[in-house]
Amino acid sequence: MATVISFVNNKGGVGKTTLACIIAQALGIIGHKVLAIDNDGQHNLSTMLGLTPSEPNIGNLYSLKASQMPKIDAILEDMTLQTTLTNVHCITAPDSLCDADVTNERILAEVIQKSYAATHYDYIIIDNHPGISALQRASLHAAEYVFVPTELQQLAVNGLSVMYRLLTENFSFNRENIKIIPNKYRNVQRQEAFLTALKKMFPKSVTTAIPVDSILDIIVTEEKILLLDRYMSSKAVPYIIKMMTEIFTFKEKKLSGDLLVERNKHLAENARNRVQSRSSQ
Ligand SMILES: Nc1ncnc2c1ncn2[C@@H]1O[C@H](COP(=O)(O)OP(=O)(O)O)[C@@H](O)[C@H]1O
Ligand SMILES: [Mg+2]
Repeated sequence: MATVISFVNNKGGVGKTTLACIIAQALGIIGHKVLAIDNDGQHNLSTMLGLTPSEPNIGNLYSLKASQMPKIDAILEDMTLQTTLTNVHCITAPDSLCDADVTNERILAEVIQKSYAATHYDYIIIDNHPGISALQRASLHAAEYVFVPTELQQLAVNGLSVMYRLLTENFSFNRENIKIIPNKYRNVQRQEAFLTALKKMFPKSVTTAIPVDSILDIIVTEEKILLLDRYMSSKAVPYIIKMMTEIFTFKEKKLSGDLLVERNKHLAENARNRVQSRSSQ
């Protein structure tokens, strides 16, 4: 059965989309089948995965009628696109998603449960826009895990308590299934203090912090894949790997080893393609 993960935070700019993309790609690179669902009208996840939003898309799911449910496999297949990574598929989001009339907040959960997606994919990763509106609630009803990237600032830390209460009380998430990922970490005393406070406030939930690293921003412009194209040059990569081993219980050496093998294959293929295109000129 697919493990469904929803990325949420009331705040924007904390790294929800960046980490959703990197984790989806990492899981795909090591051989898992991944469906990335862009549940944000800004469609940054679709863009980061190299896709332009197309029709049909996630918006069509929210206007689904009960009579269409028997055809759910065909509908889902129609809206699912292939990314540059064979194992990573994506459902894109339209600009108009914020106007979606979500009459049934459980629709995403129902679609996943009643379609081939539940068994075909190992992981389903849902990215959300900031806040908790009907769209995010729909993704939370579908999810077994919630990942909450956060920055280490006073206001962000205050907001997390509200979010945590909502997740545990209104959505009955297990504390172990809520993962708070400190992001854009700078090794300064103030942030270190916030990190210690976070770990105290949410025992079992806080992962290794991901350092601030401009390469995470640059790869978007370059249309590169962090764990294939910038594995060695990004100082965030070892921390991302450590964070993933804490969350998914992969062994750290095995995960970094498997990623490295695929990265080497990818770079070798790029080099071959460059030689071929030069010789055909
Ligand atoms: N660890 C990091 N170091 C440096 N920049 C980061 C890091 N994580 C995210 N960013 C950048 O911060 C910006 C906001 O990230 P994004 O993932 O879009 O946030 P959200 O989806 O929460 O709004 C992007 O420009 C992204 O490249
Ligand atoms: Mg985002």
